[in-house]
Amino acid sequence: MDNELQALLDQLKEKEAQGSALDINGPYRKELMGEVLAYTNGFLDTLEERKAYESKGYDRTEADHGFNVKEAGTGIGEVLDFIGNRVDHTGLNPASGGHLGYIPGGGIPASALGDYLAAITNRYAGNFYASPGAVRMENAMVHWTGKLVGYGKGFGGNLTSGGSIANLIAITTARTAKRLKGKDLDRNVVYMTSHGHHSLAKGLNIACLGECITREIALDSNYRMDVAALRQQVAMGIQQGLKPFLLIANAGSTDTGAVDPIAAMADVAGAHDMWFHVDAAYGGFFLLTEEGRARLAGIERADSVVLDPHKGLFLPYGIGIVLVKHIDHLLKANSYEANYMQDAKEQELEHSPAELSPELSKHFRGLRMWLPLKLHGIAPFRACLEEKLLLARYFRYQAKALGFEVGPEPDLSVVIFRYVPPQGDADAFNRALAHAIQQDGRVFISTTVLDGVFVLRFAVLSFRTHRKETDVLLEQMREFVRKN
Ligand SMILES: Cc1ncc(COP(=O)(O)O)c(C=O)c1O
Repeated sequence: MDNELQALLDQLKEKEAQGSALDINGPYRKELMGEVLAYTNGFLDTLEERKAYESKGYDRTEADHGFNVKEAGTGIGEVLDFIGNRVDHTGLNPASGGHLGYIPGGGIPASALGDYLAAITNRYAGNFYASPGAVRMENAMVHWTGKLVGYGKGFGGNLTSGGSIANLIAITTARTAKRLKGKDLDRNVVYMTSHGHHSLAKGLNIACLGECITREIALDSNYRMDVAALRQQVAMGIQQGLKPFLLIANAGSTDTGAVDPIAAMADVAGAHDMWFHVDAAYGGFFLLTEEGRARLAGIERADSVVLDPHKGLFLPYGIGIVLVKHIDHLLKANSYEANYMQDAKEQELEHSPAELSPELSKHFRGLRMWLPLKLHGIAPFRACLEEKLLLARYFRYQAKALGFEVGPEPDLSVVIFRYVPPQGDADAFNRALAHAIQQDGRVFISTTVLDGVFVLRFAVLSFRTHRKETDVLLEQMREFVRKN
């Protein structure tokens, strides 16, 4: 062997030995797993005592040097201590049943097991050729959700990272399906209400549709789109030579949880050849309940729908779904050509996520959704959602009894409320109440502004929120009013 080859082999041996640290071995793996399991079990076992919000962790401290990484590694004990102190005990705790702000998430543990399996086995879920099983599983989840929405044959969809990206995919699909050209943008109109989630405006901008005209349609007294006003706006636009392009309904708005009149809106969209999109990121999985199905009637008429399993199915953050009634539109919007993908294309027996979204390599998200549904069955998910609908009604009833002004009967599981003191500034009073609740931290609520008025929100969606957490909030409200 010549010297050059020998030197090469020596270097290879050395690098292999150094890099082998990444493939953790038997006893060390056991140690790491044991420590991580002990930490996560401790987290779950003490969740009830933990706050829903901890107002610390915002200021920079010396301890934050721990966020830096170095050439040499750190022991698992130190790493977990750091996560506990600087991450898991700071800010909002979305795993807590006391999280009643924004649109709460969840974090059912079975989903974490799905993520663990997906990460260890590292199936390539972007392409059927690479992993027929993983793609079939993701497609099964899309199929199940599409059937829940009421779609017939020929629909398609994609598991995304969340509702915002799902909305973006729906918007780019609408753009492609309606063949929008740059020169026509300022003639095309998007209709939605001021309560559309901001990811829609973001999506329109990212999709280069920012130059389209956006008409904000008035809300009725229940914060739902006023369809008479919509009809009027569409007719006026047509008279002015504009083209109705996209109509967006909320199936559970972030502000008030209101569900727009979906069926009546579908009629308007159909009459004017508009793309009809329903943002059901928050409200979509209430379709598992009888009440939710009645509320969301007509959703099957939408050209595209977005649902968020990391909201209504209580999964940990990192999964949304976009559904498109005619899969061809989704395929066209995401079509690609690449010589290096030729083997994959020849082997397609099922559609692949890579054909239906902007992603190629991607997290195998299907497993984090499929495993809990398979393990628990659908029934407990339905029961949890039914419980949330009841809790919203219970909270509204009790808040009213305490003398609070409450919003309309909730369409789903968000209740708007505020207290109007006999004298003084009502907005300031409610701001102080929200602050006091957040500082206490046992439960967390967020606020919004409706018609220029500061209001508080009770948003119940976590699988861990029950009557107990609701009563903690009610008790805090009672005490604050008594003392102030
Ligand atoms: C109605 C609605 N649409 C879209 C989104 C965006 O979803 P994500 O946060 O998963 O990106 C949200 C988030 O709360 C929402 O409430």
